[in-house]
Amino acid sequence: MGDDVDIVLAPRSQSAIIEIDPGLFDQIVLNLAVNSRDAMPRGGKFILETASVELDEVFTAQHLPMKPGRYILLAVSDTGTGMDQTTVGRVFEPFFTTKEVGKGTGLGLATVYGIVQHGGGHIWVYSEPGSGTTFKIYLPSAEDRLDEESRPQAEVTIRRREGTTVLLVEDDEIMLSLTRKLLEQNGYHVLEAKDGGSAIELLAAHNGPVDVLLTDVVMRGMGGPELVAKVVASHPATRVVFMSGYTGELIAQHDKMTEGIPLLEKPFTRSALLSALDAALQ
Ligand SMILES: Nc1ncnc2c1ncn2[C@@H]1O[C@H](COP(=O)(O)OP(=O)(O)OP(=O)(O)O)[C@@H](O)[C@H]1O
Ligand SMILES: [Mg+2]
Repeated sequence: MGDDVDIVLAPRSQSAIIEIDPGLFDQIVLNLAVNSRDAMPRGGKFILETASVELDEVFTAQHLPMKPGRYILLAVSDTGTGMDQTTVGRVFEPFFTTKEVGKGTGLGLATVYGIVQHGGGHIWVYSEPGSGTTFKIYLPSAEDRLDEESRPQAEVTIRRREGTTVLLVEDDEIMLSLTRKLLEQNGYHVLEAKDGGSAIELLAAHNGPVDVLLTDVVMRGMGGPELVAKVVASHPATRVVFMSGYTGELIAQHDKMTEGIPLLEKPFTRSALLSALDAALQ
C-alpha cells in the first residue's frame, strides 16, 4: 500500500466463517487494495471491516439472486478520491478503466465481481467524489455447516410507531422511496426531502413535532452533520439517526461531528432500519 497509507483492521464479529478458495479470496482483497492505493496518491486510510449479518427478503429482493440468510460482510474502504455516479455505475464492467493506457486493464473489479457472484454472494459499492469509497462484499456464512445445532434466532421486537413523525432526508431516489415505504408500513408518518436545503424548508412549513430525523451523511450541498446542527437548534427534542453507504469507520475519519450519533449502514434490512429508529426514540 505504500508508506503513507494506514491500514485499519476492524473485525466486528468473533467468527466470520465462509467457504471459498483462499487464492480467490486473496484476489478479491488484492484487487480492492490496489485500486484504493491508486485512489490515494497522497496517502490516506485503507480500512477492512468484517461483520456477520442476517439478510431478510427486503434486502435480498433488491440483490437477486441472493437468498435470505446469514452472510459474512467484508467492507473495504478508502479515504481516496472517490468516484462520480457515472463511474460507480460502470466499475464492474470488464475493461472499464479511468487509468492511463498501460496502467490499468479494467479487469480488476470485473474479476472480483465474478468471484463474489460465483460464491453466491453480492458486491455493492458506495462512493462520492472527494469522500472516499466503500465496497461491501456479502458471502454466505458457512457457520451452520460447522455447528449442526441450529441456534435460536435472536428475537427483535419492533414496536409499531403509529403517527410518529420522521423527517427522512436521502439524495438517492430509489433508497428514499424504499425507506419511506418500510417506515410507513410500520406506522410512521414520513416527511421526505431529497437534500438538506429542502429538509429545512419542509421543517419550517411543518406544524407539529418531528420525532426523529433520519438523514444521509454525504449529500451534495448541505451535508448530514450541518443539517443536524440546524435541526437540533430549532427542534431540540428531535432524535437523530444517520444513514450511509459508508461504514462508521470511514464516516468518523471524515467528520468528527458525526461522533455519538447512531449510524445505520446502507444497504439495510427492514429490522435494522426499524430497530435503529426504535433505539433512538427510546
Ligand atoms: N477505490 C477506488 N477509488 C476510486 N476509483 C476506483 C476505486 N476502485 C475502482 N475505481 C475506478 O474503477 C475503475 C475500474 O477498476 P478496475 O479495478 O476494474 O480496473 P483498473 O484498476 O482500472 O485496472 P486493473 O484493475 O485491471 O489494473 C478504475 O479505473 C477507477 O476509475
Ligand atoms: Mg484495479
